[in-house]
Amino acid sequence: MQFIKQMKQLVSVKLVLTLIASLFAFSSLADGEQPQQLAQLSEGFDAEQKYMASCFACHSTGAAGAPRVGAGMMSEWESRLEKGMDAVVLNAINGMNTMPAKGLCFDCTDDDLRAIVEYMLASSE
Ligand code: HEC
Repeated sequence: MQFIKQMKQLVSVKLVLTLIASLFAFSSLADGEQPQQLAQLSEGFDAEQKYMASCFACHSTGAAGAPRVGAGMMSEWESRLEKGMDAVVLNAINGMNTMPAKGLCFDCTDDDLRAIVEYMLASSE
């Protein structure tokens, strides 16, 4: 129980830090500077390559009810996207039922995962 309490505290510290970081991002925009590149992609990251390595096995076949990726598959994604892109990306990060956390890409950052999801959606149009 103590452990769970600590984890919850950690999560809220992380949330606060994220909020502070986004405040800084917005205030620098207000100063009329060029928008900063906020995404923290891993070095040498390639969304397609990561998709093939981690997500393809389930998302190309629809294994275990995974929404399929590929030309013309957007209908499998539309209802999921109704809750908003952020929520969909969060489910990829945290996992969802039989979808494993991070889609089993343990060296992917949250922004890497977002980029992979964007790649998956772009390839499903
Ligand atoms: C072991 C199979 C498996 C792997 C590997 C996998 N997924 Fe999934 N994924 C699923 C299943 C099953 C669902 C549907 C879960 C549900 O709706 O309950 C899903 C759903 C999703 C969704 C939709 C979330 C939502 O809000 O509806 C996204 C986005 C996603 N996966 C991204 C990824 C990414 C990115 C990877 C690779 C980094 C990945 N998945 C790897 C099985 C997998």
